[in-house]
Amino acid sequence: MGDNKGLWLGTKPAKCGGIGRFLLVGLCAIFAATTVLTGNVYLATQAPHQRIPINAQEILGKCAALRQPAGPPADFGDREVSDRFEPGTNTTLIRNARLWTGVNNGTEVIHGDLLLDKGLVKAVGKVPRSLYAFLENVTVIDAKGAWVTPGLVDLHSHVGLLPLPSMRATFDVNSPNGPILPWLRSIDGFNTHDEAFRLGIAGGVTSVQALPGSGNAIGGQAFMMKLRKTRERSPSSMIIDPPHTLSTSGAQVDPSLPPRWRHMKQACGENIKWYGTRMDSIWAFRQAYNEARKVKDAQDEFCSKAEQGAWGSIEGKDFPDDYKWEMLVDVLRGRVKISHHCYEAVDFDDIVRLTNEFQFPIAVFHHASEAYLVPDVLKRSWGGTPAIAIFATNHRYKRESYRGSEFAPRILADNDIRVVMKTDHPVINTRYLLNEAQQAHYYGLPPHLALASVTSTAATAVGMAHRIGFLRVGADADVVLWDSHPLHLGATPVQVWIDGIKQLPEDVQVGTGKDDVAWKEVPRVPDWSKERNATWNWDGLPPLKGRNELGLVVFTNVRTVWTKDNEGEIKEMFAITGEKEELGTVIVQSGKIVCAGSVLSCSENFNSFDPHEVLDLRGGSIVPGLMSYGSPLGIEEIAGEPSTGNGALYDPFTGNTPKILGDTAGVTRAVDALQFRTRNALLAYRSGVTVATSSLSKTTLFVGPNSIIPGLSTTFRTGAAHALEGGAIVKDITALHVNIGRPHPIGGRNGRGPGASVSTEIAALRRLLLEGESKDTETGLWFRRAAEGTIPFVIAVSSADIMATLLKLKVDIEEARGTTMRMVFAHASEAHLLAEEIAKARVGVILIPSRPFPDTWDDRRILPGPPLTNDTALVKLIEHGVTVAIGAQDAWQAGNTRWDLTWAALESNGRIDEQQAYALASTNLEKLLDVRVPRDAADFVAYAGGGALSMSSKVAAVLSSERGMVEFVS
Ligand SMILES: *[C@@H]1O[C@H](CO)[C@@H](O)[C@H](O)[C@H]1NC(C)=O
Ligand SMILES: *[C@@H]1O[C@H](CO)[C@@H](O)[C@H](O)[C@H]1NC(C)=O
Ligand SMILES: *[C@@H]1O[C@H](CO)[C@@H](O)[C@H](O)[C@H]1NC(C)=O
Repeated sequence: MGDNKGLWLGTKPAKCGGIGRFLLVGLCAIFAATTVLTGNVYLATQAPHQRIPINAQEILGKCAALRQPAGPPADFGDREVSDRFEPGTNTTLIRNARLWTGVNNGTEVIHGDLLLDKGLVKAVGKVPRSLYAFLENVTVIDAKGAWVTPGLVDLHSHVGLLPLPSMRATFDVNSPNGPILPWLRSIDGFNTHDEAFRLGIAGGVTSVQALPGSGNAIGGQAFMMKLRKTRERSPSSMIIDPPHTLSTSGAQVDPSLPPRWRHMKQACGENIKWYGTRMDSIWAFRQAYNEARKVKDAQDEFCSKAEQGAWGSIEGKDFPDDYKWEMLVDVLRGRVKISHHCYEAVDFDDIVRLTNEFQFPIAVFHHASEAYLVPDVLKRSWGGTPAIAIFATNHRYKRESYRGSEFAPRILADNDIRVVMKTDHPVINTRYLLNEAQQAHYYGLPPHLALASVTSTAATAVGMAHRIGFLRVGADADVVLWDSHPLHLGATPVQVWIDGIKQLPEDVQVGTGKDDVAWKEVPRVPDWSKERNATWNWDGLPPLKGRNELGLVVFTNVRTVWTKDNEGEIKEMFAITGEKEELGTVIVQSGKIVCAGSVLSCSENFNSFDPHEVLDLRGGSIVPGLMSYGSPLGIEEIAGEPSTGNGALYDPFTGNTPKILGDTAGVTRAVDALQFRTRNALLAYRSGVTVATSSLSKTTLFVGPNSIIPGLSTTFRTGAAHALEGGAIVKDITALHVNIGRPHPIGGRNGRGPGASVSTEIAALRRLLLEGESKDTETGLWFRRAAEGTIPFVIAVSSADIMATLLKLKVDIEEARGTTMRMVFAHASEAHLLAEEIAKARVGVILIPSRPFPDTWDDRRILPGPPLTNDTALVKLIEHGVTVAIGAQDAWQAGNTRWDLTWAALESNGRIDEQQAYALASTNLEKLLDVRVPRDAADFVAYAGGGALSMSSKVAAVLSSERGMVEFVS
């Protein structure tokens, strides 16, 4: 189209038809009386003061388009074929399903059929034969009453921008070029080779919002993408409803096209501090929006004049526009769904003021750790209360998230605020998005809202409800068929369709052992009202100390009691299996179980039956406490805040170990740095983890391990008050630790891990284990003991090739010294490739994380498990006779240990039972780390409402004979 300076015409009746596609019908009707186009000729005018430009219609069209709201055209629902349809895709009829549609806030469930054709949902519920009888290639699937949901929507993802395995070359998530970058587009850095696509689909995730990172106040434009690889294989072809601005600048967009929603990332708080303080970043926002407002006001004034016919006043002027600010102008016009990373009350207050000053809406606040504490602030947001996208239990990783709470989803919902659960992939593996909703449900979010939080609520919040997040006629055919009710832990897709195209292999076993009708029902969950109220009342930091009872305590209605036998194996003391049978009683004196059995047998044993406390466990269980390994639990309070932790370790490989230490490798002891009553430790304790082994090693996403030789770990009780309390330290020096691996991929500002080569690391180990260092130093002493096998030698290693090297090294050392080492591989992502050799070498394995994640090159050859492979790494190692345990990388994860166990059992398809699973984070860890708590000194945990591994239960009390008491924690 021509520019506005062009040609000016006289006033005569206009011919509308000739204006073509750039003119809207309504406009034509209004302005036809005054305008005419006669071509590129400068005409003498009848009214010189009112000359009309030749492109007047274009200008008026553009002006009218400014007022058009974003969203699908009115007739969108009538489409017969999806623009994403791939010819040759079969029609699919899913019969006999429980269809969770997302409609009515997730309360609608339809028992019936679902027809997918031409990339669309064509019928829901009753599907008349006439709709498909004439079609070729109809695949019919009998769901046998299984649940079917819309494909999951992850509103916070960096897939493509931080592709897996991570590499320096593909770290494309943030720009270093300033705080305000609305002109950047995540699609320009979106890498199509990312393991996360297939893993996400395996978790039922079909769409994500690919967000720029949070290192900038305005990080750039985001895009809604489907995870399915397209025939074209390009990033652009993965975008859902690509905005018209994608290949043209804002003001050049054809004004006859109804605007589509655009998406943008903003951030505030800690992550922008490399550009200044909070004060600086809010000023940066105000300055940017002020620029955008000037452009918008200029456009509005220009248009107002044009629409009044005051052409003279804009004669010779361009339509006001600014390529740099056009995105923010669209924000001010309400046509952008902003996803705003924001954590604390101060940040919400700042941004809510900003929205009112410049009058634009926020679609979603992300992370939003304190959102649940300031609902009234959120409700003051201009243009309506944003949805809140949060993690379920990933909190306290930095100061901003210190007050994050597992009860936030429910508190937000109680305040009528929409809740979205998200992963921030790769922070949480996008594959486990649904697990965020499951946990939110466990901690009190009603089931319909929990499912909506990863489907319909998410899609609606970003303007995508016309296509995704719902099962309704006309929606995209993105569908998941589940092996259980999706809110059950371990729910796994049996099949996933995206745009009607089947995504999963059909030869993998899914859902073994889930035939019982209970698997089809919403899992029962505990009542958390007391904890929730305390969280609210204590501003997010409720006291976590329980109530101690030193005297006699009786637990009634106990269904199961497990204990440890003399070999340290978990065994059943009693279990009531029949529904009709009377449940058991457990009597505890000073924290020690003195009787467990029927009411009758225990009261006979106990004549002076005068309990201080009687607790009804309602079919619950009493089992040995769990153990956690692998995270800095007890070493730090807030992972991202150095002032709350031990501080940096010296790196002997760069020779900076200070002389005063008198020790080449600077071997130090975790026990010296231990702190008690950290919130992560107490929350782990309240989740059944009573003992933890922590080293000074810390591995962080994007940073890598903090040290090659992090020294000596310690084992402590997570519930103890301080180091000098009886039983607080279980084993002051537990194991010697080293981290061996290829260089961490992400360099520059983010890469802080130690940088020695693999060969250097192995050479150093060889030398140290062959007594290359004097026994008089800590390095010499502890490496000698590791070589002799008198202390476990735990090597954090992921690559199977490096493990093979280490197995050879072990043989060499043992032959040279005539010893047997106690070697353990931790992390061990690729251990399954060497299962037989690891078993033969009698090396133990601690899988961290317990479910695989192809984080770096060293981790890339994961065994993903169902629905992608029949085997999991755990199953494969166990079947080869390796002693296996699981651990956690971050301290907040320790509290989720029991879910990791439940999951391990579930995805083994019946090859790991509950007791074997339980051993993975208790007796097997004890064996591998040589932590032998005497049987009499072991802690027990009482779960109310169900078994230890069940979502219907919660920890009621911890029984500690060592500490001489029962601590009631709920
Ligand atoms: C039906 O399937 C066959 C075999 O896959 C294929 O050749 C044919 O094109 C399909 N028909 C349609 C209408 O998709
Ligand atoms: C969904 O829930 C919201 C918030 O509680 C409420 O305002 C809305 O009316 C509900 N919509 C339907 C269709 O039930
Ligand atoms: C489509 O249907 C035809 C039979 O009509 C079948 O042979 C083919 O395998 C199906 N394709 C897929 C991808 O399921």
